Amino acid sequence: MRVWDEIVERARLYPSPHNSQPIKLRPLDDTSAALYYDLDLGLPAESFGIPFAHVCAGVFLESLAVVAAGLGSTVVESLDTRPMDFGSTDRLHPLGVVRLEPRTVSPEDEERLRVFLARRTSRRPYEDRLVPEHVLAPLTALAAAAGHDFRTTSDPAIVRRVVRVNQATLFSDLENDAVYDEIMTWLRFSRREAAERADGLSAEAMLMPGPLLRFAMGHRGLWHAPVVGAGIRTMYLNTMRGVRQLGWLEGPFGAPADHIEAGRTFMRLWLALAAADVHLHPFGTVITNPGSHRVFADAVSADEGGDRMAWMLFRFGYSSPPPVAHRRPAAAMLLPASA
Ligand SMILES: Cc1cc2nc3c(=O)[nH]c(=O)nc-3n(C[C@H](O)[C@H](O)[C@H](O)COP(=O)(O)O)c2cc1C
Repeated sequence: MRVWDEIVERARLYPSPHNSQPIKLRPLDDTSAALYYDLDLGLPAESFGIPFAHVCAGVFLESLAVVAAGLGSTVVESLDTRPMDFGSTDRLHPLGVVRLEPRTVSPEDEERLRVFLARRTSRRPYEDRLVPEHVLAPLTALAAAAGHDFRTTSDPAIVRRVVRVNQATLFSDLENDAVYDEIMTWLRFSRREAAERADGLSAEAMLMPGPLLRFAMGHRGLWHAPVVGAGIRTMYLNTMRGVRQLGWLEGPFGAPADHIEAGRTFMRLWLALAAADVHLHPFGTVITNPGSHRVFADAVSADEGGDRMAWMLFRFGYSSPPPVAHRRPAAAMLLPASA
């Protein structure tokens, strides 16, 4: 089953919310494997934390397809789209079975694998220049193929407003004790801790000095204090310098199968941007906080009729290379073949 070792060694670099790396893979034989979502690594405290678990599965499936193609296999999926129950005693939620079929590796497959391996989230300041239309136009078609609208704005007033809403929501969401407790389990305050645990959100990736992040997270009450609160806010908004554009996806977001396809579409977009050296940074809190969502959806006249939702929002642009987010070793993602 060396083929799975080779695939997992690369596919483990898929992005996941809070870098919690919840997907597990159990090889069944040389060509098939069962996939699971480890409920203990999910983020159910956040509103929309549960739909986003299936989004993460979709992100992983696209990552797996890219890795397998680059190594000479096409992935055939038989998905299990039953809803997740975070209260279940069985902590491995089944996502289905994937099968590998031989494929001739094309130069495009190789290039997509290279881009996948190099992709990172950038929370750095951006370069204060627009991403040209010829880079964005193909993304519209790519999203449309899955029934999603990829939309962008470079209206300075809207960009400024949404960046501020993102900051304010991020801080106010952390006043929710369940969300606060959840994120505290995933924050890594020192480089050493980030490297040793090999998961979670490092202070470095968030461009905050570790001791300051630890202090700020340990003293939530101070965020309302005039001087300290303003200082923390300013430091965060400084990381948003140069942001000229926001992008978002609107599409079907009603059931687990929709969430998986949404995640797959998002990852395709992310890789298409990364291929053009464009970075992105999701603004999850603006989407998941109902009040902030309304402000954003109204500002951009989002189409949210029926099951449709503006379900993913991000800033995008050019930045210097962001810090690497660690990943657990492949062995941590692989489940024993026989069990
Ligand atoms: C579905 C999804 C939602 C995410 N939402 C956020 C978010 O709201 N805020 C954020 O800073 N990063 C967000 N991220 C980025 C992850 O934190 C990031 O991918 C992870 O820490 C690994 O880092 P990397 O992308 O640099 O490899 C999200 C990622 C995914 C896949």
